[in-house]
Amino acid sequence: MLILATFLCAAAAVHAAWSEASLEKHVDVLELAAPFVPVVGAEWFGTPHHHRTPFAVSPDGKSAYLAYLEGNHFVAGAKMCVHVQKLSTETFKAEGAAVAVDGAIEASGLVAHNDGFALFTHFNTTTTTTSEYHIPHIVRYKASKQAWRTPVGGTTILQFDAHMRANKGNLDGDLAFNENSTYAAYYRTEYYGGAPAGAAGHGGDITAYVDANGALIASPYAAQQFCGHNFGIALAPSRDIPFPSPASGAWDYPAIGAQRTPEMFTAEAFGGTRGSYSVLARLGVTELYLVAWIARPEGKGEDALRHVQVTPLKSKKEVGGAGPMDVTLAKADTDCFNAHVAAFGDAGALVTWEEATVKGEASAYTGTRFQVVDAAGKAQGAPFVSEDVFVAGDIRKVGEKLCWPYVQMKWDSDKKATAAYGPYGSDTWDPFGTAKLADTPATTVKKMSFACVKAEGAGAKRRRGRFERRHML
Ligand SMILES: *[C@@H]1O[C@H](CO)[C@@H](O)[C@H](O)[C@H]1NC(C)=O
Ligand SMILES: *[C@@H]1O[C@H](CO)[C@@H](O)[C@H](O)[C@H]1NC(C)=O
Repeated sequence: MLILATFLCAAAAVHAAWSEASLEKHVDVLELAAPFVPVVGAEWFGTPHHHRTPFAVSPDGKSAYLAYLEGNHFVAGAKMCVHVQKLSTETFKAEGAAVAVDGAIEASGLVAHNDGFALFTHFNTTTTTTSEYHIPHIVRYKASKQAWRTPVGGTTILQFDAHMRANKGNLDGDLAFNENSTYAAYYRTEYYGGAPAGAAGHGGDITAYVDANGALIASPYAAQQFCGHNFGIALAPSRDIPFPSPASGAWDYPAIGAQRTPEMFTAEAFGGTRGSYSVLARLGVTELYLVAWIARPEGKGEDALRHVQVTPLKSKKEVGGAGPMDVTLAKADTDCFNAHVAAFGDAGALVTWEEATVKGEASAYTGTRFQVVDAAGKAQGAPFVSEDVFVAGDIRKVGEKLCWPYVQMKWDSDKKATAAYGPYGSDTWDPFGTAKLADTPATTVKKMSFACVKAEGAGAKRRRGRFERRHML
């Protein structure tokens, strides 16, 4: 009885406090060391997507880091370099100069340490002009100096010869680190020949585990392909190996969320190619998780528009609870995309996604939604909407708040807008003939913005109290 009363009280608090006023905006606070391309076209579709900027906070909470790619490999002659900038956790302004990781082709994952950071990226390791080997690496920096650099792909660790997609160089992956100082890098692969015969052009996904000194850790879960032809990945830490890592699609299984085949291959359920961040949230330091994705309603046909679902994992290996929870219901004129989830603690999480009103081919962005869910993935109260803040990088805990980076810009999610943003990749796989290299130079920006929401606004403190009491009984 007492517990029920507490819960009702907390639910009422959610309703009152959770509004656009809960958003704390730090607009254009970070000067970038080099121009950044804020929008990339999705492979196959060419729909515009925010270009990911990995963001991470150190365990002592004193430093935050942002990683971003300079230039763009769709621009001829562009310099390949990833910049990693240390930031104030109060103002998000730069602290010191950015570290330039020369030759790094993508900012695909970032872990912050009390003494530096680890970046997941890839390098063109080709020494001949006939074969292209883009090998993923974890690069560890301590106090702005490189401490180690470990390849986690290629023939050194894999049973097949695997690399990134030849010539394109997209590294769809993520990096996680646990309380036992173990790194996991999970990414999409493509094989470049070798054994077995005929493997070239096919691929899947791989997780590599590395210790605090950069040594590869042997494990039955390491360096094995689990989902063939998987493009969309989700990764979160666990207290030991294996780390949980849902895949959004596999060759022999239905894609997560009933996506169309091309959507499966572009990993739209997990944010599209170069997405796959903040889609699997660990609830505090428990072994409970929430996965968020974009789903197409089953049985309604491929023209049905997409909505958002969240499902709890009751352990890192098992789906639990009532199955997928609808965070928002499917609607006839509204398409949902760019879903993410991040935990406030062990009892509640933030789920966010974008919506567009769709009429025929045209899609008009109507804002980003911010919704609180409980540990079971159930929506608490209503979402609020922001038209000028969206999520374009990892959502992390900064003190009691959840914060993430984005670029302050006029955001148009319509496919026609992609060409105006600049060139995007032509793809030899392109079955629809939609991919192209525009003549216009890419739109670039020199500033980054940050936004935060407070846990208090979400009523998470009260619910945490209730959760702990229940587990102590
Ligand atoms: C990778 O490096 C090789 C050798 O320098 C070069 O020929 C090739 O063009 C590079 N590939 C890309 C995509 O930059
Ligand atoms: C922690 O990491 C060490 C070194 O990699 C390993 O030997 C040990 O088994 C790990 N502990 C757990 C609980 O996984």
